[in-house]
Amino acid sequence: MTQLDFLKKFKRSNPTEHSPSIIGFFFVSVCFVLSLFYLDYRAVDKDFHSTAHESSISVTLRGVNESMGKSRLPEFLEVGGEGCDVFDGDWVWDDSYPLYQSEDCLFLDVGFRCSENGRPDKFYSKWRWQPRTCNLPRFDAEYMLEKLRNRRLVFVGDSIGRNQWESLLCMLSSAVADKTSIVEVNGSPITKHTGFLVFKFRDFNSTIEYYRAPFLVLQSRAPAGAPEKVKFTLKLDQLEWSSSQWKGADMLVFNAGHWWNYEKTVRSGSYFQEREDVKMEMSLQSAFQRSIQTLVEWIDKEVNLSKTQVLFRSYAPVHFRGGDWNTGGTCHLETLPDLGSLHVSSPNWLHLNIVGKVLSEYSEKSQMKMMDVLNVTYMTSRRKDGHSSLYYLGPKDGPAPFHRQDCSHWCLPGVPDSWNELLYALFLKREYDHSQESVKTSQAPV
Ligand SMILES: *[C@@H]1O[C@H](CO)[C@@H](O)[C@H](O)[C@H]1NC(C)=O
Ligand SMILES: *[C@@H]1O[C@H](CO)[C@@H](O)[C@H](O)[C@H]1NC(C)=O
Ligand SMILES: *[C@@H]1O[C@H](CO)[C@@H](O)[C@H](O)[C@H]1NC(C)=O
Ligand SMILES: *[C@@H]1O[C@H](CO)[C@@H](O)[C@H](O)[C@H]1NC(C)=O
Repeated sequence: MTQLDFLKKFKRSNPTEHSPSIIGFFFVSVCFVLSLFYLDYRAVDKDFHSTAHESSISVTLRGVNESMGKSRLPEFLEVGGEGCDVFDGDWVWDDSYPLYQSEDCLFLDVGFRCSENGRPDKFYSKWRWQPRTCNLPRFDAEYMLEKLRNRRLVFVGDSIGRNQWESLLCMLSSAVADKTSIVEVNGSPITKHTGFLVFKFRDFNSTIEYYRAPFLVLQSRAPAGAPEKVKFTLKLDQLEWSSSQWKGADMLVFNAGHWWNYEKTVRSGSYFQEREDVKMEMSLQSAFQRSIQTLVEWIDKEVNLSKTQVLFRSYAPVHFRGGDWNTGGTCHLETLPDLGSLHVSSPNWLHLNIVGKVLSEYSEKSQMKMMDVLNVTYMTSRRKDGHSSLYYLGPKDGPAPFHRQDCSHWCLPGVPDSWNELLYALFLKREYDHSQESVKTSQAPV
């Protein structure tokens, strides 16, 4: 019986007059619900056995069958998935997660190894992001590495960007049997304060790089003659020194926000500067906006957008309760995401709104689409359970004291893996769009 027949039947009967039809309705409903469970079960079962080799693009029709079971939604890159907003959705429990174990990943800071550092629950690693109107392609490390052959993927930003970069290293390296074939090109270890790290997957000649640039723009000593309280300045019209190394990447993933607050700027004697002028009165918001304009101008001038895919990963909300990071805020008792509807407070949107504003101003001036926003703010705001909290010190040194919690960074495996699944989806989409374009050009009349 189709859903329509079912509805017709329901309409025809008048429940107040015929009580047997109520029982009938009840019976049919139960059958209907049970059949949904059955379909869901089959979908899960199928996912389990599908081989990791199948790629989401080349096997275009695969999703048609699969989508009938898997919550009956189209795949992101297939017919019906075009308009899908992958950032709007829900967290769903998925027993097949996580995608890797921290013990198996050599490329993780101790600070993200929550489970090894004593975190008692592992629930936080079991949630999958499910967009409302389509299914995401399942992450296929081997396929992505193949597509990244002879290419560079570069992350630029603060330590939350580093959190995401390490997550991607773990996700990709899970497909590489010989881990010694993955090397840091300068032999540097993963430690917190290196300016940049470049990991090379030798068998693919592909590098996954991280450049620390918490403000994106350059921070330097105060110029001569500046007021005494000015210890440093952020040069809003000049990017970090390392920007010369970002050039030529095939994929660039920026992020910023966690350092653009009063404590880490003006309060610590770091004021804003444009050309020679120290702007004593400039607001944080205008300064951040100015820095994003500088970034966009740099991309316009220095980046070949037909070669390089540029993404800006939006602000990832923090979850300190009963205080801030330096005043005893906590999150260590959180073991579940917010699964209901949730209002995301406006400070969390501030950075994304400014980035959006600059991009839309720019798009008026240029035909070129500058960058995609990896809009993780909403999904991430619901994951108060995903932070390192007390478990960012090594197994011997931790857990941390209650009043020194980390509710900004994320346990791995965990929430940043989901950002990278979205990154993977956008990466596939671009590959797909390019392959469509080349089909079109090759078919165009001469
Ligand atoms: C759907 O699955 C059946 C049986 O597994 C297969 O024969 C058929 O070709 C599939 N259809 C598509 C469109 O993939
Ligand atoms: C980001 O995603 C959220 C959730 O879907 C949405 O409400 C918001 O408008 C999006 N923002 C931008 C700039 O795309
Ligand atoms: C390896 O990758 C780099 C960076 O993308 C590229 O410049 C170089 O030509 C590649 N080497 C080979 C042998 O293909
Ligand atoms: C930009 O990149 C495309 C694709 O890789 C290439 O064909 C083109 O020559 C590049 N343009 C410039 C100006 O380097």
